[in-house]
Amino acid sequence: MKYNLISDNWGSEEIKAIKKVINSGVYTYRGKYVKQFEKKFAKFFNSKYAAMVNSGSSANLIAVASLFFKKDRPLKSGDEVIVPALAWSTTYNPLQQYGLKLRIVDINLETLNVDVNDVINAVTKKTKAIVAVSILGNPVELKKLKKFCLKKKIYLIEDNCESMGAMINEKYTGTYGIVNTFSTFFSHHISTIEGGVILTNNSEIYELILSLRSHGWTRDNSTEFKLKKFQTTYEDYSFVLPGYNVRPNNIYAAVGIEQLKKLNKFLKIRRENHNYFFKLFSKDKRFIIQKSIGNPSFFAFTFILSEKFKSKKLKILNKLKKANIEYRLITGGSFLKHKVKKYFKYSVYKNTNKADYLHNYGFFVGNHPRDLKKEILYLKNVLDKIKI
Ligand SMILES: Cc1ncc(COP(=O)(O)O)c(C=O)c1O
Repeated sequence: MKYNLISDNWGSEEIKAIKKVINSGVYTYRGKYVKQFEKKFAKFFNSKYAAMVNSGSSANLIAVASLFFKKDRPLKSGDEVIVPALAWSTTYNPLQQYGLKLRIVDINLETLNVDVNDVINAVTKKTKAIVAVSILGNPVELKKLKKFCLKKKIYLIEDNCESMGAMINEKYTGTYGIVNTFSTFFSHHISTIEGGVILTNNSEIYELILSLRSHGWTRDNSTEFKLKKFQTTYEDYSFVLPGYNVRPNNIYAAVGIEQLKKLNKFLKIRRENHNYFFKLFSKDKRFIIQKSIGNPSFFAFTFILSEKFKSKKLKILNKLKKANIEYRLITGGSFLKHKVKKYFKYSVYKNTNKADYLHNYGFFVGNHPRDLKKEILYLKNVLDKIKI
């Protein structure tokens, strides 16, 4: 491959960290690195609580679950939740698994995010939660959305699995929701092989997540919470919630600590790569490229063929393939284009024309935390040689 979608960003520090875990003989989430990573992660993002899990998908699952067991205003089966037409499968799946009805809002083809005014207009009497997804490092207008949610007593959940390190209004994405999720899967802004994190400032949600993460038991909860919520005292193996086992392990966390130290450096390089990409492609009439708002963390570089060139999709993709340039569908494409939709209860606000267009005529190439100018220029030359 001349231009890969993803690449390894580990150095000798991560290998040393793994060796430390192996030498300690403590591999599970009860080892000291999980707590250390969580503390550092929460501090980095100026949040009160962080809980590490085994993937971003698991983070979404127990984030949604926690709102079902919260004391006041719990979510209930049959409630409506607003979601963007473009996200990842496991943005939606926990909502289906908990009996929620999706209300789908189309995206803006320039930002690839929902327009907050559309979300506001899509709200009905049954809307109890909104899932905000900042696509590929580009922030949703979260300040405005949060203000609206607070006023209407709607839960704001942020699936921030693609946008670690992005900021809007001087605040990190993934800190605006009552509960917020991150992925640390390989190729994401930091990589712990598999992994995910949940951030919240709400102590009840945090305690619920600790239990839901680990069999639904009370073993990881504070004594105060055990007593107050479950009238159980010091019994570690008291099962109080229909939980899961979505725990991380000590190796993921030890690597996470090293990766977190490098996050600012990674973000700087991702942004420099984007500046170069933008310089080369921002005036290119063949494509709509992602227009950034706030201070994005640029996961990838997206291309959507403009109306006039859309018939050339196959020709362009074939040329990329021949030139050894990897590409893929943008995030998960349009939710309604996937067969899994038959298992969901949903309604659509207006239509999903733009997400569908992106699904049919969009693709992305990788951004990495290393200098990519050579690759981006190569891509530009390959694209410019195509006669269209
Ligand atoms: C928006 C979004 N949510 C959730 C996930 C799932 O994260 P993971 O792959 O760590 O399960 C992804 C994956 O990249 C994603 O893009």
